[in-house]
Amino acid sequence: MAQIFSRIVGTGGYLPEKVLTNHDLESMVDTTHEWIVARTGIHQRHIAAENETTCDLAQQAALQAMDAAGIRPEDIELIIIATTTADQVFPSTACKLQHRLNIPQGPAFDVQAVCAGFIYALDIADKYIRSGTVKRALVVGAETFSRIIDWTDRNTCVLFGDGAGAVILEAAAKPGIIASHITADGRYRNLLEVPGGVSSAYQDVQNGRAYVRMQGHEVFKWAVKALGNEAQDMLAANHLSVDELDWLVPHQANIRIISAMAKRLHIPMERVIKTIHRHGNTSAASVPLALNMAVRDGRIQAGQKILLEAFGGGFTWGSVLIHYI
Ligand code: COA
Repeated sequence: MAQIFSRIVGTGGYLPEKVLTNHDLESMVDTTHEWIVARTGIHQRHIAAENETTCDLAQQAALQAMDAAGIRPEDIELIIIATTTADQVFPSTACKLQHRLNIPQGPAFDVQAVCAGFIYALDIADKYIRSGTVKRALVVGAETFSRIIDWTDRNTCVLFGDGAGAVILEAAAKPGIIASHITADGRYRNLLEVPGGVSSAYQDVQNGRAYVRMQGHEVFKWAVKALGNEAQDMLAANHLSVDELDWLVPHQANIRIISAMAKRLHIPMERVIKTIHRHGNTSAASVPLALNMAVRDGRIQAGQKILLEAFGGGFTWGSVLIHYI
């Protein structure tokens, strides 16, 4: 039997209407627009409305991706949502989305790998398609990270924002997704975390809520090293040189992490997709949002080779090498 591969046939993205600028943050914590831009590259981020949830953002991004792919709800055989900020403890946000979009079949589930979540989800969906189990998958990264941010902590609140990105993955005779790799190192779980949770009875809570805590400097160093090595290993394993790569689509956490990693990889910044200035770190949504933007503005074109990669709490990280066909 001929081998089956997967390829991306549609992308979508959604950002909530409300924009929070660095100048707005100046009146909330002891910070300045200049500090935030110099240390992170972020100018603004989008924040979900009070009654807007992760599933609402996911729905908009998914509809756009389905429209771009020209498919109907009944064509989708698998839904995976990468999120750290699910609407409810259960059911999964993917099950809620399945109902909202009138998708008549499953499976549907959430994946929790924080900022690397979309890479994890794409890796899983690709394997479902390659095995012949399903022909078409909806893969979403969606977050309302603003809900787990302590808005009095200047170390973290300037970094994150809300949003969603989505792709439709379809069975194909040629790759599409050339290769994917995901990994984790739980020894570093405490460097970036929300310390409270359901099973630990919310031991670390402020005002009844659990928030992101981060040792920024350590995370920064680790992210540059892990992402640099990840990209080099992925290219080497697939006998590709950096010159043969058309676009690098990295997780948008900090422009300094992105440029340090690009320098390590010897890829010029002109071939790196950057959205960090416009919407900060949207966690699992950051890679699909950046991919969607570059597809829609015409930079990413058929025939090109693209490397997606991300790093997140856990630590988790990974990459997906794509021939955009
Ligand atoms: N405004 C002004 N000053 C701030 C600030 C803010 N928003 N946040 C921190 N500072 C201060 C610190 O308190 C510190 O002051 P001190 O020297 O008096 O103690 C000073 O700025 C320098 O802090 P430092 O942590 O050394 O800065 P940095 O260059 O490492 O930048 C981060 C801080 C958070 C931007 C950077 O470490 C980072 O991006 N880390 C990775 C975070 C990340 O990407 N997380 C998600 C990964 S998926």
